[in-house]
Order: sequence, then structure tokens, then C-alpha cells
Amino acid sequence: MTHDKKLWGGRFTGATDPSFAKFNSSFAFDRRLFAADIRASIAHCNGLRGAGVLSAVEAEQIVAGLQSILDEATNRADYFDEPAEDIHSFVEARLVEMIGEPGRKLHTGRSRNDQVATDLRLWLREAIDQLSVRAKQTQEAILDLAEKEKETVLPGYTHLQRAQPILFAHWCLAYFEMLARDRERLAEVRKRVNVLPLGSAAIAGTSFPIDREAVARELEFESVSRNSIDAVSDRDFCVEFTSACSLIMVHLTRLAEEIILYATKEFGFLELSDAVATGSSLMPQKKNPDSMELVRGKAGRVFGDLTALLTTMKGLPLAYNKDMQEDKEAVFDAFDTTAGSLEVSTLVLQNLSLNRERMRMAATKGMLNATELADYLVRKGVPFREAHEIVGKAVLNAIERGLELSELSLDDLRRLSNKIEKDVFECFTLEQTLGTKSQVGGTAPERVAEALANARRLL
Ligand code: ARG
Repeated sequence: MTHDKKLWGGRFTGATDPSFAKFNSSFAFDRRLFAADIRASIAHCNGLRGAGVLSAVEAEQIVAGLQSILDEATNRADYFDEPAEDIHSFVEARLVEMIGEPGRKLHTGRSRNDQVATDLRLWLREAIDQLSVRAKQTQEAILDLAEKEKETVLPGYTHLQRAQPILFAHWCLAYFEMLARDRERLAEVRKRVNVLPLGSAAIAGTSFPIDREAVARELEFESVSRNSIDAVSDRDFCVEFTSACSLIMVHLTRLAEEIILYATKEFGFLELSDAVATGSSLMPQKKNPDSMELVRGKAGRVFGDLTALLTTMKGLPLAYNKDMQEDKEAVFDAFDTTAGSLEVSTLVLQNLSLNRERMRMAATKGMLNATELADYLVRKGVPFREAHEIVGKAVLNAIERGLELSELSLDDLRRLSNKIEKDVFECFTLEQTLGTKSQVGGTAPERVAEALANARRLL
């Protein structure tokens, strides 16, 4: 097999420098577009047949040829083991080798410019669907965990200082919401990916009467591109995709960071299963949360992919420029990294064990009920700003004596405000502190139970 016959050799007399040929080639990575390229070529062939450019016999030969190329590639591991300029020239060369003359007609009315844009959109549409499924699986793992731990509490933190007690399930649902928006974003991107560029040819459009709508239907595109120049030259859909991936990664890194932190001896709230942790080659006692650290670390790659795409596209004159060949590795890497990170995060969540006692202890030590005392005073008619001041004094007093607020006596408290009565001690309990947060979106147990049920329905 010789695939080094160029698609554009006619006007050249000299040979390509081998090191430039290597530099110029995208075949090492764009072979991932192989199935999409075959599918788009079949649709283009049918378009040419409809336009009367190809006879029925020729079109059938081409379609059969493309299909056997697909089969061959699936059955032979070494199929792609030879140099080619890109996946498009590889497939065309194989086709001509296989069926001869009709294969040389397939590229009529088409350029690699609209071909690669079509292939990439087909590939990305599929990738988006896969990623959305992965994100949904992570949401499922979050919900399963939350439902299993309905009663579990932990301190809520702001500035990493203990703030107010929250239900663990409420914390879980925060991540559930982030991923819900991430999936919405993916669906939004998908709409704009789902447009057919084929028929735009190199820049000006095709001069053959190809029914673009029919081609779009065959490839399940929602619509056809409205401007041939734009269709071959923009990669905003790639930017949007890596941007959506970046936000997924941002969310996963926050989850990762919290899990890493809570798994330390200092916090001791939870433990990762052996399945997703590693040991130290030197220190026998260690159990390291490498899975979550890698998720945290890999976010950098995805942000890099986004930055690379933006930088590549910035200031490019219309229409296609070879710079744009750089789009694919960024998109592939963003997909691989985000999909892998979702998968590992799901695994971690499915195998997390919690130290409920320790979490409860932490939620009840450190005066996390101070705000509740201020709210109590407000209910007794004290303006909040004054209540805040009074409770501040109570906190100071408790700190000095090494006590919790609930350990101060009624007399101690009444010295600060005569509005305080015996019923004050109820507001110090965890039940009351959680239970009063009963508006929509709050951490009161009945609200969280509702939110869990809603989340389940949403999935
Ligand atoms: N390998 C090229 C890419 O990835 C395909 C399009 C090439 N078009 C061209 N006119 N050289 O962008």
C-alpha cells in the first residue's frame, strides 16, 4: 500500500522535505475522526449522487468501499501504521486503492476544509453525549451517598473556619447542582455543534447542486450552516466545548480538594477506599488520596486546552488557515481528561466511608450555634445588629472560660441581655440550628429530604 500519493501533487515539481511532512501531518491524532470521516463521506457521496454528479453504480461502489474500509480498520490493529498527511487523505487513498476510478470522484464539490469541520462536529456531538452520561453517573453517585447519609451532619465552612452546621446530604446536593448546570451547558454547546458545514467546500460554497438539507438529515444535523466562509473557519464550538469542560473540572477540583482535606488526620471526617488510594514507597503508614489529587491537577491541562484554542484562533484571517489543525488535540485532550476525571470522581464517591461521630462532634464544637442565638434574640424583638453584638460578647466570655455557648449559665447570658430566657437552651441544639433553616434551599432536614427527592426525579 502506498498512501504517500498527495491530494494536491499536481502543481508541485519538488518533493516535500521529510521533516516538514512529519510536522505537517495530523494523522497521529486525527485518526480519531476516522469513523466520523467515513460517515460524512458516505453522506457526501449520496449528496453527489442526488446532484447527478455520481451515477447510482458509482455511488454504490463508493459507499461499499467506505464501509469495507471501516470494517478492515476495526479488524486490523496495524491498519493505521503508515504515514499519511491526515485522516482525510488516508481514507481517500485507501478508497482509490480499493475501488479505483469512482473513488477519485468522491472529493467533487468538497474540500478538506468543510470535511474536517464536519468530521469534528460529528465527533464532538458524540463526545458531548458521552460526557453528559459520565456527569450524570457522578450525580448518581452523589445522590446515592447523600441518601445513605441522610442524618449525617458536618460543620459548614466559610474561609475554612467553622461556620454553621449543615447536613452532609445538603453538602452533597451542592455538587449535584454544579453538575446539573454543567450538563445544561453541554446541551447548549451541543445545539451549536449540531450544524452541518459540508457543502461549504473550501470557502465559497460548492458549485454542484447538492441537497445540503438531505445531507444534514442523513448525518442527523439540526440545520445547515448559513455562510460558507464562517462554516469552514470558525472553531468557536471547540472553544465552547473546552470551556464547558473547564467548568466541570473546576467543580471536580473543589470536590477533590474537600475530600482530600476531610481525609486528613486533622479533619478525619472520611476515608477513601483502598481502590482509589495509594501508599508511599517509603512511609508504610501512608494512604494517599492520589485519585482526587490527580483530578485536581489535571484541571490545569483542560484550562490549557481552552487557552490554546483561544490563542490559536485569535487574529486569524478568514477563512481556513492551517493553524486550525491545532484544534483537534486540544479538544481530544479536554474530552479525555474531563471524562477520566468524572469517572474517577464517581469511583471515589461510590467508595467513601464517613466517620459520622467525628463529623457530628466537629459540628457541635466551636460555637457554630452563635448565629442561632442571635436569631433567637431577634425573635425576642432585639434588632439584629444589637443581637450580633450581644452574642459576640457571649462568645468572648465562653472563649475566655474554655466553654461552649450552651455551657454558659442562664445568669451569664442574662447579664448580657434580659431578653434571654430559659427557652434559650433549645436554640443551642443541633436539631434547632439545622431545623430553623427551613426555607427553600436551606439545610433543614425536611427541606433536604425534599431536595433529594427532586434531584432523584431530575435524573
Ligand atoms: N488536517 C487538516 C486539519 O486538521 C485538514 C484540513 C486541511 N485543509 C487544507 N486546506 N490544508 O485542519
